Order: sequence, then structure tokens, then C-alpha cells
Amino acid sequence: MTDTTATSTPPLDLTEQERQADLDLDQLKQLVGLVEYDESTDPFPVTGWDAIVFVVGNATQTAHYYQSAWGMELVAYSGPENGNRDHKAFVLKSGSIRFVVKGAVSPDSPLIAHHAKHGDGVVDISLEVPDVDRCIAQAKAAGATVLQEPETVTDEHGAIRVAAIATYGETRHTLVQRVVDGQTYAGPYLPGYVARTSGFVKRDGAPKRLFQALDHIVGNVELGRMDEWVGFYNRVMGFVNMAEFIGDDIATEYSALMSKVVANGNHRVKFPLNEPAIAKKRSQIDEYLDFYSGPGAQHLALATNDILRTVDELRTEGVEFLDTPDAYYDDPQMRARIGEVRVPIEELKARGILVDRDEDGYLLQIFTKPLGDRPTVFFEIIERHGSLGFGKGNFKALFESIEREQDKRGNL
Ligand SMILES: [Fe+2]
Repeated sequence: MTDTTATSTPPLDLTEQERQADLDLDQLKQLVGLVEYDESTDPFPVTGWDAIVFVVGNATQTAHYYQSAWGMELVAYSGPENGNRDHKAFVLKSGSIRFVVKGAVSPDSPLIAHHAKHGDGVVDISLEVPDVDRCIAQAKAAGATVLQEPETVTDEHGAIRVAAIATYGETRHTLVQRVVDGQTYAGPYLPGYVARTSGFVKRDGAPKRLFQALDHIVGNVELGRMDEWVGFYNRVMGFVNMAEFIGDDIATEYSALMSKVVANGNHRVKFPLNEPAIAKKRSQIDEYLDFYSGPGAQHLALATNDILRTVDELRTEGVEFLDTPDAYYDDPQMRARIGEVRVPIEELKARGILVDRDEDGYLLQIFTKPLGDRPTVFFEIIERHGSLGFGKGNFKALFESIEREQDKRGNL
């Protein structure tokens, strides 16, 4: 199926990345809540995630961390050795997820100013689309800021068509069309990148991969602007509001926030959007906005089909998670609400894994501490069993846990 074109893409097909990762549609329906939809009437059809691009202070070491601690695989590279004198970029994969970590080489690199302002973080949530020109025409008609006009970029592996639009803060959506004139681009990532593997050897017994797919990326936006960004995704990109659409304040004793969720037609791409709400003390969203110097991507949810093993492996490698107090598991109301899940609650309690249930099923989730030096971006590990939610029932417990950390940092 390499001759897929803009008009003949079936409603539910695997992406090339999913195919390469040996995932199937049933798995993806469970892992990330993929749904059937007809893209023929979608003004801005999105196939799925293309890559999540991070700017970091030291890409060389970050690339090692994602391999050694997170079990990702180095697949491509761009840097001074192949003509890119501005920065180094390492492309890492786990399942269908592609991360790109970029760090400045040249003292004149624009990445330096970006990193000085924001610290380590997500600069680009890049999306694969079947027709870049159609998307940009729609984006312009809906008043979006186009950062890069559509252009065809080629190398010896073929051609891609690419453009970019602005979203919250200094975050962008690069739109990548990987099938141009009936030909699928055959390079390891984008033109300008070379295939690269690393000498890193996984220890004996290490699992093949710790997560299979990206479930959602949460954006933190300024006070009073959440609805504006929900409207942006509705209007510009045709995203729909998901069932778990929480307009009320989510409040703990000290802080509050509001959250709403938008998704593309097939639900591969889901964006919860948070804004702080006025409360007694400063919320975790306020802390993020201060330390990221504005809106940005707060967390990335990585989908696994075995959260217990994933969490155990990550802890072995020194990854730190937020604590969940024993009281969470011992609360009879909570127990009643959770009901039966696939493992004894004691197994979850031992690892601090949270559970949430709704009318469709349940989900298991846990959150890491911030990944970098600033209290900004972090990961969630999620295992879905029917639930298409985001852990609404855990928000209070989660936020209280974040507040304990925030308080230790002197930022509450
Ligand atoms: Fe989440």
C-alpha cells in the first residue's frame, strides 16, 4: 500500500510508522482509542502524528537517555557530519512514535535563543497529512498563521511536501505529506537526514520496547485563552470536542484549572488544553507558564499494553514518577468506582499507578516528574481498556501530587 493518494486513503488504515512497528488496527483501537471516520469531507484531514520535535540543551546526551532509559531506538540523524552546521538532530523511535531531539551546534543557531527562553521542551508537534496544500488552504481560510508555505523537498530517497502553521506559544505544527505524486518518501525521516543506528546495546532481558504509540499531548495555555485554542482546533483543523469535555474548574485545596479535549477525526491525535483558574495559590499551570515563559506542551501520554512492566523497567533505569498516597487505594469509594481491573489493586498501589473508569471501560495511568531541569514537560504512561477518557477521576489526586512537588520547589 505505497500508492496511497490524497483521495483514495481508506477511512481507517495503518500509517507507515504503525506498519513498520508491527501494530494492527485492533491493537491501536485499544491502545489509543482509534475510531472509524470518513475523511473525504474533512477540510483538514490528519492521518496521525508524524514526529514530536524537542529542543534540548544537549541533544547528544538526551538521545542517549531516550535509548538507555526509555528503550527507544536511534534511526536517523542530521548534523555537521552531513552538512547541517546549525544543530544536531537525533531521530528516535518506539513503536509508531517518532521523537526528534535537536540541540544547537553553531553559536548563532536560532535554537539557542529558543532554549534560553523555554528550556528543554516541545517546539513542533508535527502531523502527517495526506494533502498539505488542502490543509494550508483551509488554515488560511480559517485565519491561522502560516509559518511555512507548502513546498516540496527532495533528496536521493524521494520527495515530501511540507508546510507549517503556528499553534499556542512558540509551538508549531509542521504538516508532512509523505506521498507525493504517488510515490512514498523512502528516507529514514526527512530530506537532510541520514539513517543512523547507535552502538547502544540493551541489557539482557530488556523488553523490545516500553511503549507502542502516542496517545495525546496536553497543551498549557494562558488564563482565559483555553476556549480560544479549542476554537482554533475546531475551526482551523476540523478537530472535534471529545466526550470528556471538562468546562468546570478542577480544583484542589490550593489550585485550579480548566481543561477541554479536542481530537482529529480518527482520534489518533488528541489535544487536551489546560488553562489556570484563579485559586488560593498558584496552580501547576501557572508554574509551567512561568518556567516555560509562556504556553507550550505540558505532557505527552505514551501508550503501552503492559503498564506494570513499563513502569518497572523505567524505575530500574532511574526514571522518577509522581507519588500516589496509599490513601488513594484504600478509599472505599475509590475501590467501588474502580471495580475489577486486570491486576490486583495491590500491584497498582506498589507502583503508584492510578485507575479511572467511565461508561466505556477503564484506564491505568502514571506520570513522571519533569523530564528536564525546569518544572515543565513530563510524560504520562497510559494503558487503556475501553475508556476513551483522560483520567478525569484522577485529576484531583494527580494535582495534589504535583502540588507536593511544586511546594518542594518553592513554587506553590
Ligand atoms: Fe494525560
